[in-house]
Amino acid sequence: MPVTAAALEQEADRLLRALLHVDCDPRGRTWNYEACRAIAPLTLEINRLKQEKNAVILAHSYVEPEIIYGVADFRGDSYFLSLKARESRAKVIVFAGVVFMAETAKILSPDAQVVVPDRGSGCSLADSLTGAQLRQLKALYPDATVVCYINSTADVKAESDVCVTSGNVHHIVAGLPAKRILFVPDRLMGQNVRDELKRRGVDKEIITSDGTCMVHDEFGPAEIAAARAQFPGLQVVAHPECTPEVAAAADFVGSTGAMMKFVKTGGAPYYLMLTECGLVGRLQVEAPEKNFIAGCRLCPYMKLNSLEKVRDALLAPRPEQIVTLDEPLRQRAAHCIERMFALSPVD
Ligand code: 13P
Ligand code: SF4
Repeated sequence: MPVTAAALEQEADRLLRALLHVDCDPRGRTWNYEACRAIAPLTLEINRLKQEKNAVILAHSYVEPEIIYGVADFRGDSYFLSLKARESRAKVIVFAGVVFMAETAKILSPDAQVVVPDRGSGCSLADSLTGAQLRQLKALYPDATVVCYINSTADVKAESDVCVTSGNVHHIVAGLPAKRILFVPDRLMGQNVRDELKRRGVDKEIITSDGTCMVHDEFGPAEIAAARAQFPGLQVVAHPECTPEVAAAADFVGSTGAMMKFVKTGGAPYYLMLTECGLVGRLQVEAPEKNFIAGCRLCPYMKLNSLEKVRDALLAPRPEQIVTLDEPLRQRAAHCIERMFALSPVD
């Protein structure tokens, strides 16, 4: 059935109400009525396809705002989205994020068809360590409990004892009986966890592999000092993938979900968000009264997602858009993620 002009106008109005305050747009767009009207045919088509195909769209907070507010059913951090993937009874899950997140969804919801808008949406952390490399590391530290950050491949998860996210890592690692932890693949997060647990009086030996996030490892303490000098009262909010020097200089360190909560409930005159710019876009929508100073960075992988690719993945996915996993490997990887759910703090 052709879409009427009235339906397009209504959709453009809906999009405008959501996107009006976003000025941190990766493509430099101004979200006015014309911009919203231009994407309205596509968001309407995607929302119709979702119903036809019994599909759900999960979107990480770093993807573009028109996906998050135009078509996503659930938006949030890695932990929240993995819970939603696990609960989902949809036939199709479109994961607008990066490939390791879609793999996690497939591990937790094996009967669904899980599709990614762009197969090239890797992650410098997940891509830093293979399952074979982790097996070699494990042989060097046979007494260590292996903890993998969720930003890892299914192969790495299958080799690990327990998975963690940026939101539950301290709680889970602190509660593990082993003193020696092999933490992969994020060297910086491993160092931050060691420092934070020491502050909490928990002494763990944390051995890491050598991965870093190419977005968060770029922030430095000098830019924090310069921003504080220019904006009195500024609060600095950082992700635990940043360096320990940045974590030590920040006012708050947490998952993207926790960072959002901190800003929404805070009263600072300005915020510097040391994370991917998509999170600033989300806060501009959901906390438009807050002020953000420039400083966020773009993740090239997250930015490979687009409405057009979401539509194509829903309509007729190409083979490379469909996530497939070897079943024995999937089951081993599921074990380490289920252990995370069992050990996570209850909100
Ligand atoms: P969160 O789980 O905190 O959203 O982090 C995911 C991520 O990729 C950060 O770079
Ligand atoms: Fe990976 Fe960093 Fe991009 Fe997150 S921001 S998906 S950790 S490269």
